[in-house]
Amino acid sequence: MLNDLDSPMEAMAKFKSALSEAAGRSSHAFHLMVLSTIGHDGPRSRMLVLRGFVEDRFDLIAYTDRRSEKVKELTANPDCALHFWDAQRKVQIRIQANAELLVDGAEVQRLWDGISDRGRGDYAAANAPGTPLISESVGSWHSNSDEGRKHFCVLSFRARRMDLLQLRREGHMRLCFGFDEEGRVEQAEFVQA
Ligand SMILES: Cc1cc2nc3c(=O)[nH]c(=O)nc-3n(C[C@H](O)[C@H](O)[C@H](O)COP(=O)(O)O)c2cc1C
Repeated sequence: MLNDLDSPMEAMAKFKSALSEAAGRSSHAFHLMVLSTIGHDGPRSRMLVLRGFVEDRFDLIAYTDRRSEKVKELTANPDCALHFWDAQRKVQIRIQANAELLVDGAEVQRLWDGISDRGRGDYAAANAPGTPLISESVGSWHSNSDEGRKHFCVLSFRARRMDLLQLRREGHMRLCFGFDEEGRVEQAEFVQA
């Protein structure tokens, strides 16, 4: 994806378009990302689905259960990191971000309304994620998926820094960006890989 002829802003345009496409297509390598947070006893990482990408603000959107550990961790400390890897194109994206947690309002409702009945069921379990299960309740799943609305949480990650790495036989390439508070690029430079 990165090549010698691209200026930093041309490369940025390519990555923005890749992330937009990835949010809407489950087969795209960037549809899955690893979110790392700072837990009370050290760093924690887990996979999330990229559900949306707001190009002009460089906001990455994911959904989760508001009762989950990651929500507690991001509430205590919104500093976090996102990681993507495209094995076919041999591209790594590392993003340092600030997380905003959204549970109310018209936009959250609009996103909830766009989720399938099956998808809504993911938020409808009576137990919070991580709750130890006694054998009778293993696999418990609410048929009333609207129950999940009160547990639904949108995670909006505002990028602060982004580090792109393209592995290549002829020499790896690495490009770093810094963003301002509104998500505009304020710094861009190729660095030694
Ligand atoms: C491929 C894959 C995709 C996942 N997508 C999500 C997701 O979009 N949202 C989510 O909350 N958890 C997702 N999970 C589960 C999380 O990785 C994690 O196990 C769960 O959210 C509990 O994390 P926590 O205890 O750190 O909050 C996904 C797991 C896998 C393996």
